[in-house]
Amino acid sequence: MGTSLGPVLRVLAGERLSTPPLWMMRQAGRYLPEYRELRARAGSFLDLCYSPELAAEATLQPIRRFGFDAAILFSDILIIPHALGLEVGFHEGEGPRVETITSPGELGRLKDRLDPVRVGKVYEAVAVVKAGLPRETALIGFVGGPWTVATYIVAGGTSRDHIEARLWASRDPDGFQLLIDRLVAASVEHLSGQIAAGAEAVQIFDSWAGELSTAEFRRWCLEPMRRIVDGVRAQYPDFPIIVFPRGAGSKLRLAGAALSDVALGLDTAEDPLEANRVLPPGQAVQGNLDPLLLIAGGAALDRGVEDVLTGFADRPHIFNLGHGIRPETPIAHVERLVERVRAGAGD
Ligand code: CP3
Repeated sequence: MGTSLGPVLRVLAGERLSTPPLWMMRQAGRYLPEYRELRARAGSFLDLCYSPELAAEATLQPIRRFGFDAAILFSDILIIPHALGLEVGFHEGEGPRVETITSPGELGRLKDRLDPVRVGKVYEAVAVVKAGLPRETALIGFVGGPWTVATYIVAGGTSRDHIEARLWASRDPDGFQLLIDRLVAASVEHLSGQIAAGAEAVQIFDSWAGELSTAEFRRWCLEPMRRIVDGVRAQYPDFPIIVFPRGAGSKLRLAGAALSDVALGLDTAEDPLEANRVLPPGQAVQGNLDPLLLIAGGAALDRGVEDVLTGFADRPHIFNLGHGIRPETPIAHVERLVERVRAGAGD
């Protein structure tokens, strides 16, 4: 059985490969002309997310172009608030807008379960992608970390320093916990739905965990992610999971200890030497090339790739960026990245 797994699933099962498998966070998106064309045809971003054929096409575009070892479902972390009944909109140039919940009294506006019509379209997209993907290419499903999704719900969209969510969490931790609990339950439900439809691994993106204090990081980032992992694995034992507590920094050791049975996504700021020192030996990691080096290109890019390859050579490692690829990234630099990673470090 094991030999039929593709390289991403092998690493997630704890194997160290001399050439690490490679994919990129946000690999489907605006740096690709074929995505911009598809996006224009779809109309709105949400229409694209809820059209199984088009979302599958967006998922497959970077696989066809670059032959990455994993495809990440084209969708968004704000599908959960939308499927819980909140209004969500994406407007050109201003980022997402979300109907707010700012107190426990407003939690009644959330549905108990995800709207099956909405998430059903997402699961259809998973099935269409799965049918079109080479067998060795892993299909990754995802959700946002409850903390990160809560920052959008409490502030009504993108927020500076996530003041609104942090204030609610400070003034009324038990009330805020109720919102987190709802998001934990919805996340388990949504990941299970993606897995049932064909996802072979899942990632939890906690993109805004970085400015939490140690106590807050434990309570609002690590504990909810732990509960999601346990909830998914109650239904799918040993299922491959990657968590991305972006900005963990000095709290990386805590993250590794709390989530030692899953792979850890490392952001750009994590130093491989330090990560290797504080993480359990054998824990798989994913990361962490600076996406800006992918814009810079040239010697800076080559050096960055080599540093990541050599930095994680001694443990199971999936090569990735330290955060999502940016729209202004030249495609030639992505091609160079793929070439360098597949050629291996040191030449
Ligand atoms: O290749 C992929 O990763 C595709 C799937 C994907 C998207 N968003 C598509 C998307 C994934 C995994 C996400 C995750 C996501 N969404 C995160 C966590 C990862 C991270 O980057 O930190 C967050 C915080 C969001 C919320 C979100 N969605 C924002 C802030 C925005 C607007 C800013 C932006 O990048 O445009 C989105 C919209 C969005 N999600 C786009 C895409 C391709 C751009 C929409 C468009 O085409 O106009």
